[in-house]
Amino acid sequence: MNPNQTIYENLGGAEGVRALVEAFYPKVQQNPLLGPLFPADIHPVMEKQYMFLSQFFGGPSLYSDEYGHPMMRARHMRFEVTNDRAEAWLACMADALDDTGVEEPLRSFILQRLAGPAFHFVNTP
Ligand code: HEM
Repeated sequence: MNPNQTIYENLGGAEGVRALVEAFYPKVQQNPLLGPLFPADIHPVMEKQYMFLSQFFGGPSLYSDEYGHPMMRARHMRFEVTNDRAEAWLACMADALDDTGVEEPLRSFILQRLAGPAFHFVNTP
């Protein structure tokens, strides 16, 4: 991990973010707490997540350029996001980071950066 570079750069840019998203969603779909929330055709969700994470990790502002202000908590309000679901989401991401060969300390740094939003999106006890 190069601390003078963004997470986006540390992941290897667009290709790295793409690989992470492609490793992540099959795990989400197979997770009993998360899978039922998502549509059968996961590809549009994957594309949005690729665009969002690119900018969240310090790369190009693909998501905002297309969809405007992210307002991510608001966009999750129509789903029951529980604490258990936030933990499951982060566990899928941890597995995806392992599968794509993202090593420490970058791996833990990314998970810490995502834990903030994940627990912030919790809207259901
Ligand atoms: C905390 C647990 C989470 C749950 C249960 C969850 C669930 C969902 C669901 C069900 C969708 C909508 C899928 C559809 O279009 O039908 C969605 C969309 C999305 N989620 Fe999450 N999510 C979680 C956390 C996160 C986190 C931590 C991030 C990023 C930091 C994130 C980023 C996104 C993005 C970018 C979209 C697409 C938004 C759009 O429609 O434009 N989610 N999420």
